[in-house]
Amino acid sequence: MEKADFYDFFRKIPKAELHLHIEAVISFDSINKFYMRKFPGIGKDEAAREIKKLFTYDNLDGFIQAYLQIQEMYESVADFDLIFSDLKDYIVRNGISYVEVFAAPSAFVKKGFDFSAMVESYSRNVRKVKEETGVDVRILIDVSRTFGAENAEKNLQLLLANRIPEIIGIGLGGSESKGPCRDFGAVFEKARDNGLFTVAHAGEDVDAFSIWDAIDILKVSRVGHGVTAFQDEALMKELVRRGIALESCPMSNVFTKRYVKSLSEHPLRKFFDEGIMVTLNTDDPLFFGVELVDEYWNAYSQMGFSAAELKEIVKNSFRASFLDEGRKARFCAAVDEAWG
Ligand code: ADE
Ligand code: ZN
Repeated sequence: MEKADFYDFFRKIPKAELHLHIEAVISFDSINKFYMRKFPGIGKDEAAREIKKLFTYDNLDGFIQAYLQIQEMYESVADFDLIFSDLKDYIVRNGISYVEVFAAPSAFVKKGFDFSAMVESYSRNVRKVKEETGVDVRILIDVSRTFGAENAEKNLQLLLANRIPEIIGIGLGGSESKGPCRDFGAVFEKARDNGLFTVAHAGEDVDAFSIWDAIDILKVSRVGHGVTAFQDEALMKELVRRGIALESCPMSNVFTKRYVKSLSEHPLRKFFDEGIMVTLNTDDPLFFGVELVDEYWNAYSQMGFSAAELKEIVKNSFRASFLDEGRKARFCAAVDEAWG
């Protein structure tokens, strides 16, 4: 398939995205507005140049610092309306039918944002996206490795005190090398006991043992990235045996430079061949300049996937989601129908 035909076709196929950070789905224009508000008098072009400087990093921890600087530009909970408006545009541009998105409250809570106001905004905006597009968005609170276990526990407590149906679980993003899974076991157990789903970034910046820890200590339902599973044959078999899905984000891994230097080196193909339930995701579209249909195109044009194989990966995006079995089956049937 030629590129233009591929994009036309894939935009029309129903698909879910399961690994996306809400603060990074904001458009460049919106960040530019925040920047100009923070530095009054600066021109649009100069602001753009300054922001672009933030988007160069040599590793995951450098990226996380840039991410925190972007979060620093939000002035109040009212700014969340703009992120969700950008999320809505992103959903429509990419023909997405269902989203599970991370929201990372730590930096905002530290700035003094009121958690219950944040939750009210998430709820109202998720309902607005649903009204305007028909698409369900569900939120996973990223309790974060970066600020330690006490901060993660605080995030969980705030969440439990402010339950809304739109927030369905917790995730563990942030610095994998500085925040090992064992520090967060108790937080994840408490989340599960309270009926929350759990996922964790693992094997993004640390060897395969970190993925074992995520599945054995945190007992997560899905692993974010999971790149270093390629190091351990037994782990790959165990992921298959337990039906644990990987939320692969190939372009993100190229940008953070730890284990893959190019898309063609990415182990996604190997994981698929091993029978692991893999899904395709963008992670941080603002930072990596990539949207969901681009990830599918890259898998097709640079990573050796056929269109028929990508159809399985599209279906995996629903199968690996936290939707109920009936909705998963209906979405998979809709994929077959759209495929023709
Ligand atoms: N927060 C946003 N993107 C992330 C990533 N790729 N890894 C860890 N934390 C993140
Ligand atoms: Zn991520």
